[in-house]
Amino acid sequence: MLPTSSTPRIQRLRALPKAEVHAHLEGCFQPTVLEQWATQAGVPMPRPRDRLLQFEGLADFLHFLDWACALASTSARLAELSYGFSQRLADSGAGYADVIVNPTHWTAWHGRLPEMIDAIDAGLNAAEQDGLPPVGLCVSLLRTQSADAAAELVDLLVSLRHPRVVALSIDGNEAAAGRTGPRFAQAFKRAGAAGLRRTVHAGESSGPEGVRDAIELLGADRIDHGVRAIEDPDLVGLLADRRIPLGICPTSNLRLGVYPAIEDHPIDRLRRAGVVVSINTDDPVLLGASLEGEYALCSEAFGWSDEVLRALARNSIDASFANADIKAGLIQALARW
Ligand code: ADE
Ligand code: ZN
Repeated sequence: MLPTSSTPRIQRLRALPKAEVHAHLEGCFQPTVLEQWATQAGVPMPRPRDRLLQFEGLADFLHFLDWACALASTSARLAELSYGFSQRLADSGAGYADVIVNPTHWTAWHGRLPEMIDAIDAGLNAAEQDGLPPVGLCVSLLRTQSADAAAELVDLLVSLRHPRVVALSIDGNEAAAGRTGPRFAQAFKRAGAAGLRRTVHAGESSGPEGVRDAIELLGADRIDHGVRAIEDPDLVGLLADRRIPLGICPTSNLRLGVYPAIEDHPIDRLRRAGVVVSINTDDPVLLGASLEGEYALCSEAFGWSDEVLRALARNSIDASFANADIKAGLIQALARW
């Protein structure tokens, strides 16, 4: 984690035209707002406020998301959170993002997914009308769900055909779920056939085998994290050859215990091996990451030149599910950086 103060270096990284391709709406709650909502609802805090954002790893973090999302029970709260997401993108100099939302965490909205998507869409539309960056929605399964639940979600997304929804995603804890690629293969196949893009969390709480399943069984257009692919040189070669992009989130990996220090993080080794890597925040507010701060963290740790930074920003644009016009505009702006 780096300070996001306005040093000239941070300002320059803010000005770098880029996209964010791996961030969760669930990770965007301000702790003060959560505390206020919990007090109003008479819901106890999971731990004292000074330790509220101290997580003991992924399982604890996901549990916290259930608590936080349950408090976002109205359309107005969801729309405001979505607007804030787009505002944060603009503050970081991103021109587009794909944002993941996982309906399982949002208990107040269970059984009302169309209404939930409409509330998010309202916030993102308002943001765009105010000149903030456009955002595509990736609706996510949780790794511990069943094949039937996955089929049900895909049926709903396919029948809705909501213009805001660009992709089917899967996230959650692979270490808790075991090998679940085969369980979700049919749902991902159906989503792909219906024109949805596919983005898959793997190689964070699973090893390289999870990344291989994401490619071979789930037809991933993009892999969220994917960092533990580094443990299998053949897989690194496959990712590079097929140009399957990884949406990497360095601070998240440090905060949730995947790597002990940035110097141990494989992003630079993956990049040097020819893998298409991009830099992202995962759960920006809850994990204390800003997009420009993540670029600064890596650039300092690995001594990246402007050329490398430009290439990574370009990867983020290419890997996004933005439409061709948005991509072309960002690529033109990047050439001027
Ligand atoms: N949901 C939100 N953040 C996540 C992460 N880092 N891994 C898996 N699922 C998540
Ligand atoms: Zn994630």
